[in-house]
Order: sequence, then structure tokens, then C-alpha cells
Amino acid sequence: MSAPQPPLALLAELSHRCPLRCPYCSNPLELERGSAEIDTATWLRVLSEAAKLGVLQVHFSGGEPLVRRDLAELVRHATAVGLYTNLITSGVLLDRARLAELVAAGLEHVQLSFQDAEAASADRIAGLERSHEKKLAVAALVREAGLPLTVNAVVHRQNLERLPELIALALKLGAGRIEVAHVQYYGWALANRRALLPTIEQLERATAVVEEARTRLKGVLTIDYVVPDYYARRPKACMGGWGRQFLNISPAGKVLPCHAAESLPGFDFPSVKEASLAEIWYGSEAFNRFRGTAWMPEPCRSCERREIDWGGCRCQAFALTGDAARVDPACAFSPDRELLTAAREDAAAPAGDFVYRQIGGAPARAAS
Ligand code: SF4
Ligand code: FES
Repeated sequence: MSAPQPPLALLAELSHRCPLRCPYCSNPLELERGSAEIDTATWLRVLSEAAKLGVLQVHFSGGEPLVRRDLAELVRHATAVGLYTNLITSGVLLDRARLAELVAAGLEHVQLSFQDAEAASADRIAGLERSHEKKLAVAALVREAGLPLTVNAVVHRQNLERLPELIALALKLGAGRIEVAHVQYYGWALANRRALLPTIEQLERATAVVEEARTRLKGVLTIDYVVPDYYARRPKACMGGWGRQFLNISPAGKVLPCHAAESLPGFDFPSVKEASLAEIWYGSEAFNRFRGTAWMPEPCRSCERREIDWGGCRCQAFALTGDAARVDPACAFSPDRELLTAAREDAAAPAGDFVYRQIGGAPARAAS
């Protein structure tokens, strides 16, 4: 295997704490408590190490990164060491003063999530009253501050019918980009699959909406579109390939090849408390296990797409088959393809209740 290239981007998950409770949250089912979070000095060191390693962009995320009072200090440091800074936020904790502090620290871009185009539905999906209203106000503040805005819209069977309105909303808010991302089913989203998985007819309509809007809004609004694996014939190149472009640091300081990797058993993911990012990126067993093509089973190993999709998603392979080293069932060549067929039956069943994300305790449910 040739030597790995340096990572391009770091997802800094500052905290799992969040005022929202979205049922498709990409955080693990076992959420970290605030007391387990690494401190400011450790994050400052890690940001310096990331820049030295060759990382170009840092995405401050969570949970909700604004729960950390040191966010502006981290942005300032990231800027000073030459990293492009992006804030991925629900927006509900942002106000004019906090935004001004972040802009002064050098923040360059904001990604703001919207749960739906319609307030009552958006608040129900977020599990927080009046969150939609607050987000509308925050989007205006971001644009007033002169920052580029991306709208993050996670789509599923309970909001897909309003995709045209979501795209119109992004346009109205002055966003330059909207990311229309179908739910990916691991962690909380897997627990909520029946409530979220769209039918093939919904998916086809959504794809047509995106294609029409892309033509109509060319040069005005960029529309990124992430399709659901469950209806794909070939998997996505998850994270651009394991340990190839991307690293993720959890609130407690675990260094992961993707946001869902903590769901995989049999891994001892290293911590920033024990080793430098360079040691972890190049030398750790966890990053090397699924790097490149040598680990692949057949038919991936001799497939012409093996260096295009890098075998798909390890977390999805584990979530569906119980073995992270198997062919991703999103691939039509997978021997486990029937698992997706069974899962798609969820889309035809009644939606069921949401299992809302929460730290500790029994999962909360609400009628859909
Ligand atoms: Fe990708 Fe493997 Fe499927 Fe080929 S067989 S398309 S490498 S997942
Ligand atoms: Fe972990 Fe795809 S989300 S490899």
C-alpha cells in the first residue's frame, strides 16, 4: 500500500450536548456527557497538530458546538494556524453578540440545519418548540454579518414532500448552497428507520425536484444531493475512503475515521490525550485497518470500482450484517443484498414514532 496522503478535513465534534433531539442524529447512541469533554488547551493543541499534519479545513460541529463557551477561542486559534473554519450548527443558541465574537475570531462559513420548510413539522422533527422561527432569524443574522451560508436539509419520508419549499427557503434566506441529504442509516437513524425511510416513489420525485431546481437556479444556488444508500446500486465512497481524506475527533478526544465509527466493535480508537494526530493518522491500527484495498473481500478486491468507492461504508456494512469487513450491502454485488430489500419494506409500513436522541436514559418517543 502506498503511503497515506495527509487528511484534508477535520470534523471537530466539540460536544454531544444539543438543545435539539433530531431522530436521525449522526452522533452515537451512547452520547458523551459534558464532563467527559476534552478541555480548551487540548483542543488548541489538536488544532495546531491538524494544521501541521496538512489539514486544510476544520468543521466545528457536535451535537451543538455553541454549547462550548470557548468556541470563539478555538476559531481564533484555528484561523491563526491557517485552517479554514466552518461552523455546523442548529443555530438556536446563536445571537448577534455571539456571532460578532465568532466573526471577529475569523469564522469563514456557517452551515445551518433546517428540519423542514414548515414550522410545526420542523419543530416536531427537531423535538424543540419554536426552533424553526429561531433558525430563520439566525440565518438573517449570518447573512447580515456577511458570512456565506449553507442550508443543511436532512430529508426523509416525513419532510420530502416539501423539498421544493426547502429549496425556496434556502434561496429566500440568501444561502449560496443547500445540502439536501437523505438520511444515512446508522446510530439514531437506524433506530428510527421505519419513521424515516422514504418510498422509492418519494425518492424519485425528490430526485426530479433537485434536477429541475439545479437547472433553474444554476449560478444562484448550489444544490448538493446525497441519495439514500438503500435504493442505490453502488455504494458511496464513504468519507472519500477510510483514512484517506478525513478525520473526526469526538467530544472526549477519540480520533475516528468517520462520525459513526464508535459503533464498530473490536476497535481501540486512539485518543488525542495519548498520541499526536500524525501518529494516529499514519500509524494507528484503527486508521490502517480498512485503508486502501488490501483488506477487501471479493468481489471488491478485483472490482474496477475499488479505488472509486473504496468498498463503500464500513459502518453500514456493520449495521446491516454485523461485520464491518463485509461488502457494503448498498452494492448490487453484495451477497447480503436481501438485507436492503427487507429494510425497504419499512418504507411501505406505517411510519411509527420517533425515538428522539437524548443523553442517557430510555429513548423518548413521540407520535408521528
Ligand atoms: Fe464497490 Fe466493492 Fe461493489 Fe465494487 S464490489 S462496486 S468495490 S462495493
Ligand atoms: Fe463510518 Fe461510512 S459512516 S465508514
